[in-house]
Amino acid sequence: MGQEPQELVAHGYDTVAERYAELERDAPWPRAAWLDDLLARLPDGSPVLDLGCGNGLPAGERIARRHRLTGVDVSPRQVELARANVPAGEFSTGDILKLDHAPGSFAAVTAFYTFDHIPRERLAEMFGLVHTWLATDGYLLCCVEIEDLPGVVADWLGAPMYFSSYEPDVTRRLLTEAGFDIVRDEIQAQSEGGHEVSYLWLLARRRHRAAS
Ligand SMILES: C[S@@+](CC[C@H](N)C(=O)[O-])C[C@H]1O[C@@H](n2cnc3c(N)ncnc32)[C@H](O)[C@@H]1O
Repeated sequence: MGQEPQELVAHGYDTVAERYAELERDAPWPRAAWLDDLLARLPDGSPVLDLGCGNGLPAGERIARRHRLTGVDVSPRQVELARANVPAGEFSTGDILKLDHAPGSFAAVTAFYTFDHIPRERLAEMFGLVHTWLATDGYLLCCVEIEDLPGVVADWLGAPMYFSSYEPDVTRRLLTEAGFDIVRDEIQAQSEGGHEVSYLWLLARRRHRAAS
């Protein structure tokens, strides 16, 4: 591959940030409805971490209305846009697999269309990190693609992009093994510039400790 996946993703989103922002034009994606369900479960002012926050729209803006938003993205361009779009949020540039948050820092962690861009061999580690960062009974809301995809570089809106994902049963199992109870779980299709793409949506709650 030559480049590390996160370097490829960073350069890719630096290039396609504006094109990506136009993609949700045909019909609203399920993201806002899932996010509203999550936010209704949290007391006002709760700390929320958004992984792969993109340009902050629409999720970060929605979170920051009543909660304390921390957003992180590997693409400097996306972070620049997020800071402009959501002045109330705290944003940083970095790889979500290398973050260093204190245990129990967040009431909820969100990741919309982000985990498909990390190597699937590291998804269990990612879920484990989220488990550590969450307070007891904290929530994870994420969506992931449903293809059995070991890791490919493909064109994405005119730039090379890294994609990797498991079939839904594997993703669900890894989440449960990392110490989460699945609260809601649904496969939903959405239109991306005329193409239909399906994602597994997962709202999960942190158990006190991982299953043995
Ligand atoms: C498909 S976009 C989704 C953006 C936003 N979450 C949304 O709902 O539209 C994926 C985002 O995840 C970011 N991302 C992917 N892998 C990452 C990583 N390892 N660390 C940090 N950000 C990452 C990308 O830069 C990109 O902005």
